[in-house]
Amino acid sequence: MMENKNIILTGDRPTGPLHIGHYVGSLRKRVELQETGNYQQFVMIADLQALTDNYDNPKKIRENVMEVMLDYLAVGLDPNKTIFLLQSQIPALYQLPMFYSNLVTMARLGRNPTIKNEIKMRKFENNLPVGFMTYPISQAADITAFGAKYVPVGVDQLPMIEQTREIVSTFNRIYKTNILIEPEAILPDKEVCYRFIGTDGNTKMSKSLGNCIYLKDSSETIKKKIMGMYTDPNHLRVEDPGVTENNPVFIYLEAFATDEHFKKYLPEYKNLQELKEHYERGGLGDVKIKKFLNNVMQEILEPIRTRRDEFEKNKEYIFEILEKGTKFSIDYTNCILNKIKEAIGIDYFLNDDFKEEYVHHYKIKSK
Ligand code: TRP
Repeated sequence: MMENKNIILTGDRPTGPLHIGHYVGSLRKRVELQETGNYQQFVMIADLQALTDNYDNPKKIRENVMEVMLDYLAVGLDPNKTIFLLQSQIPALYQLPMFYSNLVTMARLGRNPTIKNEIKMRKFENNLPVGFMTYPISQAADITAFGAKYVPVGVDQLPMIEQTREIVSTFNRIYKTNILIEPEAILPDKEVCYRFIGTDGNTKMSKSLGNCIYLKDSSETIKKKIMGMYTDPNHLRVEDPGVTENNPVFIYLEAFATDEHFKKYLPEYKNLQELKEHYERGGLGDVKIKKFLNNVMQEILEPIRTRRDEFEKNKEYIFEILEKGTKFSIDYTNCILNKIKEAIGIDYFLNDDFKEEYVHHYKIKSK
């Protein structure tokens, strides 16, 4: 299966169904990478990481494991090409953080901008769980346990990749080895997709903010959400000039609309540039653009939803895929784990070295 291909590892927390922010931020890229055939991709349901801020609600995580699997298959991740796994079932992912946590200072964790921001958003204040604070170390374990070279993610994950690279280089230096690989992020092609704006204009699409379009939303729900989207608040009359910058409707079009879509649904304009220019000049109403966006989104999301409905009828099959991939991953990561233990020098029973050293030492002493 592996054929010495470069390894990709990525994943998502199973805290809810996935939305179009996940799609443009990483899912779309994963499918593209999968189809090149140049990599072996692992996609992980990060239920352990989800527990770090939902430890008191494991039921929520349990319920969403299948939701996320359905979204994965719906967007075109293919179990014949991509290996799916469930983080909490992989023993190596519990052991590696123990080694890595010696290589990271508290101060360094505190400087991680993503963690800083999440702590503020979750209002942990003086009740910050150690498990939450140290999840970047666990994420470094995820990436290195698979020997991953590439990690397709949104831009909010860059600090995690950076932290992993530091752990890798410190580990390799201290234990005089080169077994750990420094991973690289693979970002979306378009900058507007790095951190995807919500339908309300909030800088981040997020379940807790209630500004998402989910991959599984019905066609009517999508339409309702799009027609109610935030646009330029000062664009009151059609004749008024409008602002396209940071305008979510235009950002969504940039992320999704192709020139083909224009030809099909809005042939008065050749491309997004022409549409933007007209909006900025004045004389173009929001409803018209939203209707166009709706057509584009329906065209993209309809086949995803249809596939999802099909897979939903066959949950047993999905369960099997996840179980099979997880079992494979247990063995696969254990091989890497053993090499890591060897590098540290805690491979006591993995080979005869320790036994021989001890016997040799004992013989000398007893002479
Ligand atoms: N932190 C990621 C998220 O919040 C999930 C994740 C866990 C992950 N482990 C990973 C992503 C390893 C990439 C690689 O979505």
